[in-house]
Amino acid sequence: MHARLDFLFAAIVAGTRATAASYSALNCSSLAQTTTLSAYNTSLLNTTYYAIGALNVSGTFNEVSFCEVYASVSYGTTDSLIFALWLPDTQYSSRFIAIGNGGEAGVINYDDMMEELNNNLGFAVAGGNAGHLASDNDAGAGPGAGSPGVYQPFLHDEDQVEAWLHNSISLLTPAARATIKDFYGNEVGHSYYRGCSSGGAQGFSLAEFHPDLFDGIIAGCPANWFTHLMLSFLWNAQHTNTNKTSLSAAVLDFIQSSVLEECDDLDGVADNLIENPLACPFNISSLACAEDDSVSNSTCLTNAQLSAAKAIYKGPVRLDFSNTSLFPGLSLGSEAGWFLPQCSAALSNAFSVPILQNLVYQNLSYDAATFNWGSDVEYLDFRAGPLIDAINTNLSTFRNNGGRMIVSAGWADPNIAPMWSMQHVEAVTTDTIGDGIAIEENDFLKLVMVPGGGHCGSGNAMYPHVPARYGLSAALVAWVETGQEPVKGIKSWGPPNGDNRTRRLCTWPQVARLEWRGTC
Ligand SMILES: *[C@@H]1O[C@H](CO)[C@@H](O)[C@H](O)[C@H]1NC(C)=O
Ligand SMILES: *[C@@H]1O[C@H](CO)[C@@H](O)[C@H](O)[C@H]1NC(C)=O
Ligand SMILES: *[C@@H]1O[C@H](CO)[C@@H](O)[C@H](O)[C@H]1NC(C)=O
Ligand SMILES: *[C@@H]1O[C@H](CO)[C@@H](O)[C@H](O)[C@H]1NC(C)=O
Ligand SMILES: *[C@@H]1O[C@H](CO)[C@@H](O)[C@H](O)[C@H]1NC(C)=O
Ligand SMILES: *[C@@H]1O[C@H](CO)[C@@H](O)[C@H](O)[C@H]1NC(C)=O
Ligand SMILES: *[C@@H]1O[C@H](CO)[C@@H](O)[C@H](O)[C@H]1NC(C)=O
Ligand SMILES: *[C@@H]1O[C@H](CO)[C@@H](O)[C@H](O)[C@H]1NC(C)=O
Ligand SMILES: *[C@@H]1O[C@H](CO)[C@@H](O)[C@H](O)[C@H]1NC(C)=O
Ligand SMILES: *[C@@H]1O[C@H](CO)[C@@H](O)[C@H](O)[C@H]1NC(C)=O
Ligand SMILES: *[C@@H]1O[C@H](CO)[C@@H](O)[C@H](O)[C@H]1NC(C)=O
Repeated sequence: MHARLDFLFAAIVAGTRATAASYSALNCSSLAQTTTLSAYNTSLLNTTYYAIGALNVSGTFNEVSFCEVYASVSYGTTDSLIFALWLPDTQYSSRFIAIGNGGEAGVINYDDMMEELNNNLGFAVAGGNAGHLASDNDAGAGPGAGSPGVYQPFLHDEDQVEAWLHNSISLLTPAARATIKDFYGNEVGHSYYRGCSSGGAQGFSLAEFHPDLFDGIIAGCPANWFTHLMLSFLWNAQHTNTNKTSLSAAVLDFIQSSVLEECDDLDGVADNLIENPLACPFNISSLACAEDDSVSNSTCLTNAQLSAAKAIYKGPVRLDFSNTSLFPGLSLGSEAGWFLPQCSAALSNAFSVPILQNLVYQNLSYDAATFNWGSDVEYLDFRAGPLIDAINTNLSTFRNNGGRMIVSAGWADPNIAPMWSMQHVEAVTTDTIGDGIAIEENDFLKLVMVPGGGHCGSGNAMYPHVPARYGLSAALVAWVETGQEPVKGIKSWGPPNGDNRTRRLCTWPQVARLEWRGTC
């Protein structure tokens, strides 16, 4: 990354780090005796001290020693939320970061907690289970997802449903900050949040419903219009899964290769990547088979394949009177990733059908194939919107409090259309700041569109060179604490192919001009 930015981040870390107080296992165990959290409806459950390298989360070890605290927050009528708080010893820089959840949650996101603990930014890190247990999602399909016909207890408890995307981070934050104060002796200096997907929805919920809690929020691939995101899953499944062989993995690879062939060079570099799909004039009809409409192969598309692909690019629309868009479609260059999540109906079966059956219609026999793309949309909005959406475009209170936000989206995300992020950020910019204000003039919210980026990480199998990790937290800390807007580029790294170079990400509408070291 840029030498100038490296220098800046080093200065930020060094500048606010507490002088080396020494903590030990003893300080950690005594915390359990001295800390009272009843004012926050919270009870401390246990503490454990980890020396450097003592905790292994998915193959990543802690690079700083820390004290782990578990606590339970009571909420609703009989509900509770479990959270973990990691308190680093010598690294602490008066910064707190809360970590969001994925999918239907029920589990703590230790992977992202470990990433932030090791981020050299001196964070005390908290993460919770969003207010329900994984076993309350679905005993069958594992954590974070449901499956058709299965009773999901948490979707029948409105307190738990609202906690999931709207309130769980705000429920754990006061107790976490009180514990941090007890441990280090001082109030938290700055508070941050990072989440992706459902965690991106939790980020927008914080800005909308709890605008005074956080100084900085990162919302990645945000699922904050969850009701209509579910409609996009259902729409894509209905337009492909009913014709199971219509869009096979090979056909999708063929489409993406064709898109790249036409548009890779537009940015001046042949790097098997499209920096800006909006500038790509690819027309899928150009892949139509010359004559035989009934035979599918991977060198041309039948009419059925064409209409299925067009439906996915378009996204769901109301079929009654107006064909109004209900959610944007997926972007050019994302096709090779569609097979499992969309064309095999994995996302529809994990979220759309279970949520319609459990939360909306409360009928496990409800047949989603009968969904009426008109009046039923209104019922979904009425029944679930107030509980799971966070789409208020007026974030004035957050902005007036000095809040800063970074929204990121992967151009090749096969799950959540990246155009949703762009459309929503545009609407927030207009409503919060004023008519005619462009995204680049937004002083509190920046959008980062990741070329070839996937859903909260690396892109599809045809993009092994696309970085999976983004330096958004460092960029946000610099913005909040020194006023340095993240417009010169944000570091990204860690592609699946092991390339150890970094690639610059730009804030929209800037796009990097050259491969790897390009400027914004
Ligand atoms: C940690 O605990 C030890 C033993 O009780 C105490 O002497 C020391 O001051 C504590 N350290 C901090 C930073 O509170
Ligand atoms: C604690 O729970 C009670 C009862 O539900 C509620 O009235 C109160 O507001 C809660 N306190 C906090 C700090 O959340
Ligand atoms: C602490 O509590 C958490 C949450 O209940 C639990 O998962 C963990 O096993 C406990 N750890 C210890 C050391 O008791
Ligand atoms: C760390 O955890 C991963 C799985 O999450 C495991 O494959 C690996 O063997 C573990 N490493 C050690 C040294 O225990
Ligand atoms: C399935 O394919 C047939 C043509 O083979 C087409 O007429 C039909 O509309 C397709 N169904 C869907 C839901 O895309
Ligand atoms: C795409 O190509 C088809 C067939 O060649 C043509 O009819 C259609 O107008 C084109 N669409 C656009 C937007 O250019
Ligand atoms: C396969 O694609 C080629 C190239 O477009 C086309 O000529 C041919 O008719 C298609 N069908 C079969 C069965 O090969
Ligand atoms: C809605 O879209 C369908 C399918 O493309 C089309 O047949 C119909 O005319 C459209 N309706 C309106 C009101 O635009
Ligand atoms: C549940 O859905 C099934 C399938 O649509 C329907 O036959 C049944 O009447 C519904 N049950 C209730 C109680 O609405
Ligand atoms: C946004 O909200 C603020 C504070 O609630 C209000 O003063 C302002 O008028 C709203 N802006 C718009 C465009 O509705
Ligand atoms: C990056 O990888 C190259 C080739 O494997 C290696 O020579 C180089 O030392 C690596 N650089 C860093 C900073 O790890």
